[in-house]
Amino acid sequence: MNLDRRAFLKIAAGVAGSSLLSPMSAFAHKAGQTLVTKKISSSNVALPVIGMGTWITFNVGNSQRLRDARTEVLREFFHGGGGMIDSSPMYGSAEAVVGYALEKIGEAKTLFSATKVWTSSVSEAQEQIRESHRLWRVKRFDLLQVHNLEGWRDHLKTLFRMKENGELRHVGVTTSHGLRHEELERIMRSEPIDFVQLTYNMVDRDAETRLLGLGQERGIAVIANRPFDGGYLVRRLKTKPLPAWASEFDCHNWPQFLLKFIVSHPAITCAIPATTRVEHMRENMGACVGRLPDAAMRARMVSYLSSL
Ligand SMILES: NC(=O)c1ccc[n+]([C@@H]2O[C@H](COP(=O)([O-])OP(=O)(O)OC[C@H]3O[C@@H](n4cnc5c(N)ncnc54)[C@H](OP(=O)(O)O)[C@@H]3O)[C@@H](O)[C@H]2O)c1
Repeated sequence: MNLDRRAFLKIAAGVAGSSLLSPMSAFAHKAGQTLVTKKISSSNVALPVIGMGTWITFNVGNSQRLRDARTEVLREFFHGGGGMIDSSPMYGSAEAVVGYALEKIGEAKTLFSATKVWTSSVSEAQEQIRESHRLWRVKRFDLLQVHNLEGWRDHLKTLFRMKENGELRHVGVTTSHGLRHEELERIMRSEPIDFVQLTYNMVDRDAETRLLGLGQERGIAVIANRPFDGGYLVRRLKTKPLPAWASEFDCHNWPQFLLKFIVSHPAITCAIPATTRVEHMRENMGACVGRLPDAAMRARMVSYLSSL
C-alpha cells in the first residue's frame, strides 16, 4: 500500500491497541494524533469510525480522468486512516471504479471491503457476488450485506454459509431513509448478523428509538449511511457559524460536527460519507481523530442545530 509511514503507524497504533480498550476508544499514535476506532462485537476487529460510501460519487463509468480523480479521493481516505469502503452492484460502475482505484493505490492493508447483494433471485445472487469479487479485485469481502432487505431470507442463508466456509468475514443487512425499520428490527432479533446499515444523521434520528439500543443489546455493529442527508445538511450549514465550543471535541468544520455527532453515539460503529473531492475527504477524515462529544455535548449540538 502507498500509505506513508506516518499514516501507517497511526492506523497500526489504533488497531493494535484496540483489544485493550473499551468499544469506543481514541488511540495515541507516534505523531501525537489519535485515531478513533470501534470494535465489531462479533469479531473483535477494530474499525476506524469514518468509512466512505460510493453511491453516485464513484459511479463515473469509463472516464479515465474521473477514475483517476476518484483514485486520489481514495488515496486521501487511506492517508487519513480510513478502513471501510461501502458499495453495491446497485451503484452502476462504482464497484469497478473502486477496484480500479485500489489496484492503482496498491496493497491497502487497512481496507475493510463492504459490498451488497442486490437482487431478488437466489441464483443471480451467486453470480452477482462472483462479479463483485472480480470488480473489486479482492479474494474475500470483509462484509456482504443484503441491500435494502431485498430477498433477505434466501440471501442470508447464502451469506452465512459463505462465512462458515471462510469465504466471507461478516454478514449484514441494509436499509436507508427510515424504510422498513420494523422488519429490520425483526431480523436483528432473530438472525445472527454481524452488521446492520441504516440512515442516522442529525436530522434523521429515527433509529435512536429502538434500533440503536437493540444493536448494542445484540452485539450488532451499526453503519450509519447518509450522514449528511445526501449532502443537504452540509450545503445548508455552510453559511452558518460553527460554534466556538466545537473545539472542545476537536471539531474544525461543519462536516466534522455532523460526523462526530453520529459516531459518538455508543451504538454506532462507523459512518460512511461519500464524496467526489479530495479536500472533502480530508475534512471528513478529520472526524476520525481527537475527542468525541459526550452525551451532554451531543444534546447541546442538537439544540444548536435546531436554533439555526
Ligand atoms: N440502502 C443502502 O444500503 C444505502 C442507502 C443510501 C446510502 N448508502 C451508502 O451510504 C453512503 C453515504 O450516503 P449518501 O451518498 O447518500 O450521502 P451523504 O454521504 O450523506 O452525502 C454525500 C454528499 O455530501 C457531499 N459531501 C461529502 N463530504 C463533504 C464535505 N466535507 N463538505 C461538503 N460536502 C460534502 C458530497 O458532495 P461532494 O462530492 O461535493 O463532496 C455528496 O454530494 C452512500 O454512498 C452509500 O455507500 C446505502
